[in-house]
Amino acid sequence: MPTPINIALIGSKFMGRAHSNAWMSVNKFFDLPRDAMMHTVCAKNAKQTSAFAKKWGWFNSTTNFKDIINNGEIDLVDIGTPNHVHADQAISALEASKHVACEKPLAGTLDEARKMRDAARKAKRKGIQTFVWFNYRRCPAVAFAHQLVQKGKLGKIYHVRAKYLQDWGGPDTPLSWRFDSKLAGSGAHGDLNAHIIDMARFITGDEIVEVSGAVSETFIKQREIITTKKSARKRFGKSTVDDCVLFLTKFKSGAVGSFEATRLATGNQNANQIEINGEKGAIKFDFERMNELQWWDNTLDSSLRGWSRIMCTNAGDHPYIDAYWPPAHLIGYEHGFTSQAADIIRMLAGKKPIVPMPDFEDAYQTQRILHAALISAKKRQAVRMSEVK
Ligand SMILES: NC(=O)c1ccc[n+]([C@@H]2O[C@H](COP(=O)([O-])OP(=O)(O)OC[C@H]3O[C@@H](n4cnc5c(N)ncnc54)[C@H](O)[C@@H]3O)[C@@H](O)[C@H]2O)c1
Repeated sequence: MPTPINIALIGSKFMGRAHSNAWMSVNKFFDLPRDAMMHTVCAKNAKQTSAFAKKWGWFNSTTNFKDIINNGEIDLVDIGTPNHVHADQAISALEASKHVACEKPLAGTLDEARKMRDAARKAKRKGIQTFVWFNYRRCPAVAFAHQLVQKGKLGKIYHVRAKYLQDWGGPDTPLSWRFDSKLAGSGAHGDLNAHIIDMARFITGDEIVEVSGAVSETFIKQREIITTKKSARKRFGKSTVDDCVLFLTKFKSGAVGSFEATRLATGNQNANQIEINGEKGAIKFDFERMNELQWWDNTLDSSLRGWSRIMCTNAGDHPYIDAYWPPAHLIGYEHGFTSQAADIIRMLAGKKPIVPMPDFEDAYQTQRILHAALISAKKRQAVRMSEVK
């Protein structure tokens, strides 16, 4: 009987819930070589964390992540905390010979991300693995798009057009770690562009070699500070991150790309969209219709060409679907995390993931591109990726 994987999760809010749901359900949907054991959850508030543990099925709770690092029973540390603590928590876990699954962006800054990558390289020599929660890779439609490109169905790729538009970041949204550059690193850029850079690299299998034409704008300079104390006067603090970052890219293959991220795109709630235009075909993906992939087959007779809507819900045809429901019995946001948890378990049992998994080395490449775009915006010039170490 293989031993279960003892998991400790840090963070109990948005991602804490998404990851808990994934670990809780992964062995129920997937037949895997090892079981996920929900050992310990850690977050800041003791009472809330203990209630969270009870609700989501964690055996233990703590408010000190060192309890996890020092616990010899823990195999995998899962990090769902704000960006500024990723480096300390991940490096401590790797130094204690624990596998690490970390949320994206890998870190708030390139310097921190580099330290994480270096620690991961060192740990890899001892058989320790790292994983990054770029969960959109595991939407069946995105994973299928990756497979179509691998099979040569798009032919030579000319053009990548990626945008991730949300609209929750207006002036009424109060201050939180997400608007503090010391905690988040950047705003919409690290939050949203990180996802679409990863998706573009994943689907095309290509690397960005130059970033240019970047613009970064902060429209909302201060936000209300919400406290539990009752006070007559509203208090405001500075928002020190971008609300909006756009940039252009060149890929190694010669393809060109454009990327846009904002949390001020009125009317777009979670419009994570990518279009890839190739010589033999083209694809379009929109997360708000995440079960579908739009496909144009340019090899057909011109009289028959047109966009087809592929419902990516056929077991056997579309990645991950055989674990879930019959055709067109749709899946949602949470399934990407469950499917990633399944691949993490496969990899910890020495098997291959269904589609490539980003590790710290891979996520560091995405972080370099984020960094290059910020330099391009600041200096108003093109940045070659070879200049960004
Ligand atoms: N993959 C995705 O789609 C996705 C979506 C949202 C957020 N994220 C990423 O997930 C991470 C967390 O975001 P969130 O939205 O869950 O944040 P959140 O603010 O909702 O939750 C943060 C959690 O971290 C805990 N925490 C903070 N500092 C801690 C510390 N020092 N020790 C222990 N616990 C600590 C808090 O108690 C809280 O439970 C971020 O890196 C974010 O970019 C990814």
